[in-house]
Amino acid sequence: MTQSLPQIRLLHPGHAPALLAFERENRAYFARSVPDRGDDFFTRFDERLRALLAEQEAGICYFHVLLGGEGEVLGRINLVDVADGGADLGYRIAERAAGRGLATWAVRELCHRAAGRYGLTHLRAATTLGNAASQAVLAKAGFAVVGETRLSGHPGLTYLCTLGEVPAPSP
Ligand SMILES: CC(C)(COP(=O)(O)OP(=O)(O)OC[C@H]1O[C@@H](n2cnc3c(N)ncnc32)[C@H](O)[C@@H]1OP(=O)(O)O)[C@@H](O)C(=O)NCCC(=O)NCCS
Repeated sequence: MTQSLPQIRLLHPGHAPALLAFERENRAYFARSVPDRGDDFFTRFDERLRALLAEQEAGICYFHVLLGGEGEVLGRINLVDVADGGADLGYRIAERAAGRGLATWAVRELCHRAAGRYGLTHLRAATTLGNAASQAVLAKAGFAVVGETRLSGHPGLTYLCTLGEVPAPSP
């Protein structure tokens, strides 16, 4: 990261407008690597956000936004299906913020929060074989390949990170 770091914030209702703008602006970009969210996601955004926040309140998931200096959402990074000391990691970074090390920094940072704040011992992740950037992010953040999978019909890899072994994020 050569520019100032964004802030990682736990998702709350006040993030809704900036989050929706982020998803709209990057919809086509994301759809090149991961399945499109579908029109319903955008038309029923508020309803879906309420459901996500209820899951977060229940301790099943922890959703985070990466905020730039103007309060704009530059990315999201989430832990879902929290159970038995583990969770599934997911992330996406805005096209205009890509290639600066933001995802790598955010994954490392969230690993530390997952261990320290959320009391987790391990995180799982998965990515398609075609998503070289995401594979690079996971490898740099200390995730190891543990298996193969299929994601929306595409071949992919599964990853595991044991949190005590993650190097501290550099400033
Ligand atoms: C994948 C994604 C999160 C990466 O975000 P980012 O902030 O650009 O990632 P970083 O800058 O931290 O690191 C990207 C790494 O991938 C590498 N990379 C990028 N494109 C690549 C490619 N086509 N082939 C090989 N490596 C590539 C970069 O060189 C960099 O590694 P390096 O620092 O060792 O050079 C972002 O592209 C994204 O949101 N994509 C759409 C959603 C998505 O794929 N989410 C992950 C689902 S598993």
